[in-house]
Amino acid sequence: MTHIRAAQKSDASYIAQAQVSTWKTLYAGLIDQSYLDSLSVEERTSAWEEIISHEKNITKILEDNGEPVGVMSCGACRDDDLDPSTTGELKALYVDTSNQCTGHGRTLFLEARKALTEVGFKEMALWVLDTDVSARSFYEAMGLKCDGAAQFDDSYGVNLVTEVRYIGEIQVHGTPRAVTTHT
Ligand SMILES: CC(C)(COP(=O)(O)OP(=O)(O)OC[C@H]1O[C@@H](n2cnc3c(N)ncnc32)[C@H](O)[C@@H]1OP(=O)(O)O)[C@@H](O)C(=O)NCCC(=O)NCCS
Repeated sequence: MTHIRAAQKSDASYIAQAQVSTWKTLYAGLIDQSYLDSLSVEERTSAWEEIISHEKNITKILEDNGEPVGVMSCGACRDDDLDPSTTGELKALYVDTSNQCTGHGRTLFLEARKALTEVGFKEMALWVLDTDVSARSFYEAMGLKCDGAAQFDDSYGVNLVTEVRYIGEIQVHGTPRAVTTHT
């Protein structure tokens, strides 16, 4: 049986391990191997402790039979060209590899949408690697649309990484409707 609960500081190490292992598996060949090799569960644990403690972040854990199987984190959008009072951002969504394709990603996505709606956001945005076909397909299945915005990040090693933005209106009932234009 699945259950969603607010993340506690003590969940930081689970989230860090999920994040690091996902990145090392999923992004091999997509971003610099030296960057992936440098990822540290300890460092990510400290970072997640701060994220969880920050009152404006919403971080939730999905449990299956009492064991964590996934996590999502969301909050106000950080993009300069979007209104942070109406646009929320899905900042992280991970389902453990052994538990993927069983609906947990959808459950966490819907929870993010609900949580953002509850604090007054009208739409949801997120960034994803342009080469991450799998994640892009998932978000498209969730009703979001790429709005054409792109950013080039040099913090992932020597090669620039391109991220593209997905966005959609938030509706608690039914599939979220994609907004058509954001330039
Ligand atoms: C992306 C991710 C969150 C999806 O979670 P999941 O539990 O595997 O997905 P679900 O089983 O809930 O799938 C929900 C829907 O999305 C679709 N979907 C999921 N992954 C998909 C993919 N790669 N391509 C196409 N559709 C996909 C499913 O078909 C399903 O639709 P359906 O119910 O109509 O059949 C998960 O694979 C994951 O954690 N990946 C690694 C981390 C990641 O990429 N995070 C997002 C970017 S930071």
